Amino acid sequence: MSHVFYRDMNVTYPKISHGKGIYLWSTDGKRYIDAASGALVANLGHGREDLARTLYEQAQRVTFAHTLRFTTAAQEEFATRVNDALGAPGWYTYPVSGGSEATETVVKLARQIHLERGEPERYRVLSRRASYHGNTLGALAASGLAERQRPYYPLLSEAFVQVDPPKAACPGISEHGTCACLSPFEQAVQQFGAETVAAIMVEPVGGASRSGFVPHTGYLPGLRRLCDQHGIILILDEVMTGFGRTGRMMGYEHDRVTPDLITVAKGLSGGYAPLGAVIASQPVYDIIRTGTGRFAHGLTYSGNPLSTAVGAKVLEILTQENVVANAATQGARLVAGLETLSTQYSWVRAIRGHGLMRGVLLEPRAGLAQQLVSRAWDAGIILYLGHGEAEGGDGEHFLIAPPLIIAPDEVDDLLARLHDIFAIVDRELS
Ligand SMILES: Cc1ncc(COP(=O)(O)O)c(C=O)c1O
Repeated sequence: MSHVFYRDMNVTYPKISHGKGIYLWSTDGKRYIDAASGALVANLGHGREDLARTLYEQAQRVTFAHTLRFTTAAQEEFATRVNDALGAPGWYTYPVSGGSEATETVVKLARQIHLERGEPERYRVLSRRASYHGNTLGALAASGLAERQRPYYPLLSEAFVQVDPPKAACPGISEHGTCACLSPFEQAVQQFGAETVAAIMVEPVGGASRSGFVPHTGYLPGLRRLCDQHGIILILDEVMTGFGRTGRMMGYEHDRVTPDLITVAKGLSGGYAPLGAVIASQPVYDIIRTGTGRFAHGLTYSGNPLSTAVGAKVLEILTQENVVANAATQGARLVAGLETLSTQYSWVRAIRGHGLMRGVLLEPRAGLAQQLVSRAWDAGIILYLGHGEAEGGDGEHFLIAPPLIIAPDEVDDLLARLHDIFAIVDRELS
């Protein structure tokens, strides 16, 4: 009898034996194509010896040195590589252990920046419905998912406010020449008073709650302008989109905006160690550096040598093996195949996303996405089930997001298998 406190006690979980590239095997011999990279984590694929070696070598040197007292070569190299990957204007990395920790950290950092600037009345954090920023209490309060928030409402701070997300079909350009989808944020800033708003936080491309949704051109630049106009900090949650997933190093590069603060996790370590980070741009970093010079925050495992050594190695591999370019090329191959597939079934509404972060939007028929994801699972293909339709999303959806190292013949094989799965579901529907 197991003593594991499972996420769902009604499920018998297959036991994973090992992984290699885009594949996972369970101990009963079943092979899975990991077309979700776990949860957009295993970006460099499974079972890499170079990353195993990085962990071994770092473990031989040192596995823990408290960041209260020390820095390490691993942490230094990791931060330098993040800075090099992002380029101008200069970036400073605060490592943590995952996406939710990054969200908690970034909110405190945004608040402290305003305190340092002498604006203590700024505390509100605006985000969107149909969004996900994590599961800890602050991150959950920032996530626009009423179904997940509801049991914890008494514990969630009202400092977090969610506004309507952009529409799939943009209603047009506003009088300010920006995307009209921005008006929910504009109205919230007006309603609460800009002087109380600390930050606006969004995912550049829809993730768990809006599989691959790409906002209208002008939306993110418009948000940037809105933040600049009112002294609000722009936080981009790149936990899913960051470091190559969208076919560019960062998701925001598609929109040519520069955020003030960025949260990253998941693919940052490729799943080889728990790692997340808050990345601060030079100007906001300077506010603290020239102020108190100290971020009033700390977590025991921040900057952990094993995790940051892995992060540094992942960033090295991304560049050396042209992984980001492969994500763009194979993403184009995948989307071409998915477009062909989608035209055969009236219940598929759209294929969306960038690079190897592709969302399939289905008609709003309850349980349809789950049905597809389950049939795929039976056939040994792991897809990422979306949620959030009830929050102003646009229908049932799921993500296809294989490791960024996927080869062209593996994309073709995945597409052929998806063809079979869609045909099975279509027969079940008729
Ligand atoms: C966009 C985004 N932000 C934050 C998180 C939270 O990350 P974690 O599960 O590592 O805490 C997630 C997780 O799915 C996410 O997709």
